[in-house]
Parts: sequence; structure tokens; C-alpha cells
Amino acid sequence: MAARHFLTLLDLSQDELRYLIQRAITIKNGLKAQGPTYAPFTNRTLAMIFEKSSTRTRVSFETAMAQFGGHALFLSPRDTQLGRGEPIGDTARVLSEMVDAVMIRTFSHQGLEEFAAASDVPVINALTDDYHPCQLLADVMTWTELRGSVKGRTAVWIGDGNNMCHSWINAARQFDFSLRICCPEGYEPREDILAAAGDRVTILRDPMTAVAGADLVTTDVWASMGQEEEQARREADFAGFQVTEAMLDAADKDVLFLHCLPAHRGEEISETLLDDPRAVVWQEAGNRLHAQKALLEFLMLGQVSH
Ligand code: CP
Ligand code: NVA
Repeated sequence: MAARHFLTLLDLSQDELRYLIQRAITIKNGLKAQGPTYAPFTNRTLAMIFEKSSTRTRVSFETAMAQFGGHALFLSPRDTQLGRGEPIGDTARVLSEMVDAVMIRTFSHQGLEEFAAASDVPVINALTDDYHPCQLLADVMTWTELRGSVKGRTAVWIGDGNNMCHSWINAARQFDFSLRICCPEGYEPREDILAAAGDRVTILRDPMTAVAGADLVTTDVWASMGQEEEQARREADFAGFQVTEAMLDAADKDVLFLHCLPAHRGEEISETLLDDPRAVVWQEAGNRLHAQKALLEFLMLGQVSH
């Protein structure tokens, strides 16, 4: 049977995604109650290709594999043949001969798709220029843990129409919630991704209007990895789009604030926002571990009942 890949949230059905969220919560509770005793991956290996920097993604995948009794290999283009021009497809075929799954953080989403097309083992998108679906598993898990089902709720994205924003759009489709995107002109998400979401997703320009009554507010850096030279221009263009405590005050009284991190305090968020009790970003970051365990288990073993 062909391997299942996880390149965007659309690669799994809505039922499978709902299963993953509940399974991640079960795995987290089991870890807290019994410690890392559940080890379904004895002698299994995950290859992790990082062409961009990472703290949370590397640590969560590596820890997930260790706690599950397996092993994770960190591969960077600086010291593999990928960095010297070995074709992506050849690399995928070689890794398929040896490892059980591959996780990739890279620039081009098309490059990731090429890799997956040539791979016999599951391939996981650990961030491309266009999407960051693993982060959304942790984000929806966090929202669900704290507030129950997200179906029919309203989330607000303030900031750049970037890879995270695209994955929030896909999440709105798959988990059936409304998403308001509030961005400066010229920083909208990709039109095709937006159009596919239909009327679940709307574009607004005024942050205070966008957050009114919202159940969840989230943002991300103004300049993503690879856009460092645009930092100064973006700081000017995003003036007025900093998420503040006053914005959360205008949302629902039970609003939560998420940020995939790393955050730039004083830029896309106020200096103090992460200290506000409505900000649940540390739980969100920790949930990367549990959500990705559920994902790895699903891709390698299918749905489990315990
Ligand atoms: N949120 C996230 O993916 O963090 P890292 O870049 O540290 O992996
Ligand atoms: N949009 C950010 C997310 C980092 C986790 C980036 O791509 O750099």
C-alpha cells in the first residue's frame, strides 16, 4: 500500500484529523500518568531534514521518537549530499530503503511534494514557505483541550498571510470553524487557498473590528524565515497590527491567544502579551510533542484503539 503523507491538513480526512486530536490528548494524558512507557516504535527510525532553523519542531519530533522507543536522525543540507546537489527524488528513494518515515522542513513546497512522490515511507511537512500543518495539529489540540470542540467557533489571524495563515485556512475548512484574517493590503494569503475555503474565511483590515467577540486570536512573525531582508519594510507595513491585551479585551471573555513561536516581543505582539493568562503559548508549544506522536503513530501504524 502506498505510504500516507502529511504535506498539508488536506491530506487527512476530517474524521482522521478529529481522531488525531483526541488521540494526541490521550497520549498526553498517558505520558503524564504513567511516564514514557508506551513505546510502539522499537527500532524504528525517523529521518529529519532541516533546511531551515528550528527549536520546537526538532525537539518535539526527536523527543517523540525517543519516548516511543525509536530513533530520530537529524540531517542538514550542510553535511548531507542534498546540500551538494543530489536530486531530491534520489534522496527520497535512498532514505525509503532505510528509515520508516521522513520529516522535512524546507523552502519550496513543490520540492517537498517531489520528495513525497518518490518516497515509499510517510513524509511529514515540518514547514515549507507555504504551509506548517504540524503546528496546526498542536494549535487545534490546545484550543480543544481548553475550550472543547472548535466546530462553529471563530478564530482571528492578525498579520502576514504566510505559511501559518495558510494552514489556519486549511484548519478552518477541516475542523469547520470561521476564520477572520486581518492583514495589511499586499500581505493577503494566496488567493487559491483562500478561495477554496469559501465563506468560512473573511479578510478584514481593522484589528479591533476583527477581534470583536472572537473565541481565539493568533498571529505570527511579520518576516518569516527566508524574508530577513524584508524585515524593515515589513515593520513599517505592519504598523498597527501588533496584537495587544486591549485587542483580547475586545474579544470574547473566554478568548485564547496562540502563537506558533518564536515570537518577537514588541513587534507582532506587545512586550507583555505572552504573560497574559489568556496566552496559552507554552501549552501550545508543549503540545507539538503529543500531536506529532499521534501523527507519527497514525502514519506508521494506522488508527489504534487503546
Ligand atoms: N513553531 C515552530 O515550528 O517552531 P520552530 O521553528 O522552533 O520549530
Ligand atoms: N512563519 C514562520 C513560522 C515559524 C515557525 C516562518 O516560516 O518563519
